[in-house]
Amino acid sequence: MSIPDNFPLPTAAPGLLDVRDLRVTFSTNDGEVTAVNDLNFSLNAGETLGIVGESGSGKSQTAFALMGLLAANGRIGGSARFNGREILNLPEKELNKLRSEQISMIFQDPMTSLNPYMRVGEQLMEVLRLHKNISKHEAFEESVRMLDAVKMPEARKRMRMYPHEFSGGMRQRVMIAIALLCRPKLLIADEPTTALDVTVQAQIMTLLNELKREFNTAIIMITHDLGVVAGICDRVLVMYAGRTMEYGKATDVFYRPSHPYSIGLLGAVPRLDAEGTELMATIPGNPPNLLRLPAGCPFQPRCKYAMDICSTMPPLERFGDQRLRACYKPLEELV
Ligand SMILES: Nc1ncnc2c1ncn2[C@@H]1O[C@H](COP(=O)(O)OP(=O)(O)OP(=O)(O)O)[C@@H](O)[C@H]1O
Ligand SMILES: [Mg+2]
Repeated sequence: MSIPDNFPLPTAAPGLLDVRDLRVTFSTNDGEVTAVNDLNFSLNAGETLGIVGESGSGKSQTAFALMGLLAANGRIGGSARFNGREILNLPEKELNKLRSEQISMIFQDPMTSLNPYMRVGEQLMEVLRLHKNISKHEAFEESVRMLDAVKMPEARKRMRMYPHEFSGGMRQRVMIAIALLCRPKLLIADEPTTALDVTVQAQIMTLLNELKREFNTAIIMITHDLGVVAGICDRVLVMYAGRTMEYGKATDVFYRPSHPYSIGLLGAVPRLDAEGTELMATIPGNPPNLLRLPAGCPFQPRCKYAMDICSTMPPLERFGDQRLRACYKPLEELV
């Protein structure tokens, strides 16, 4: 993949996180699959990057690679520097330290991440007691403070409740509180709102945005919904079959998408400005089977602009105001 010399966006200091040529491969009985294919991005303190793509595009595996959580059949290539230090393939002990003190993750399904047999308060306090040298009383008070910060009503009372006594949105707030307890520099939120209804989704997104400002946390927001990230992200990386399709400022990608895949993703968002609230055209076809990818651009079989040349992978090229795109179709011919 050709990355322009001056990629990524110029920053005064080295980024908080600099990911270069990140690659995740899995060996399976049917052969080797590449779930993440030479991904490059950077993130500064307090910034939000959206990683957007359909199911199977490699979003979660990108996060898992950074967190050292890949399945046993997975292998990582490339580099990820966090505050200048390589974090890929760290020994378990150092990974644990990094995960507890610097980088936190909110997982797709809060119910599988919370222990159903433990009171919510104990789960919060346990995190603090494990990683911070503080008394039980201090851990309790700090946990209540954090539940307040995520706008949990009656936080003190809810410390004694079990996860099943919370609604889906409340559980996600608990997960956010747990993730922020140790004041991480980077928070990876993997589809934090998928299981929630639209109103609660919006509340959680607003909350994350507020918390980002309050704690100056950088966020990687993973979602399949380009509309969701446009409002809260600084930059967006659109992924398909493990590859970057386009990358740029969130507003540019949202208002002037430069890749047929991003245009398709936006088309699949319910448009409140359109007649009625029905879904606009979705992208025809299904996300690809990674074991049977076409030669060249993986999106080609579903792309209405596909041309002969697309059987060679388009290079990721810089254009416009610090943007990147991997597509042969001239921009002015995209509608
Ligand atoms: N242990 C594994 N062995 C083989 N393939 C795997 C393994 N784990 C994940 N994959 C494959 O990697 C690809 C990317 O998966 P990933 O979980 O990153 O998708 P995603 O973009 O997060 O999708 P979703 O929106 O559904 O969460 C998928 O095709 C998946 O089948
Ligand atoms: Mg996922």
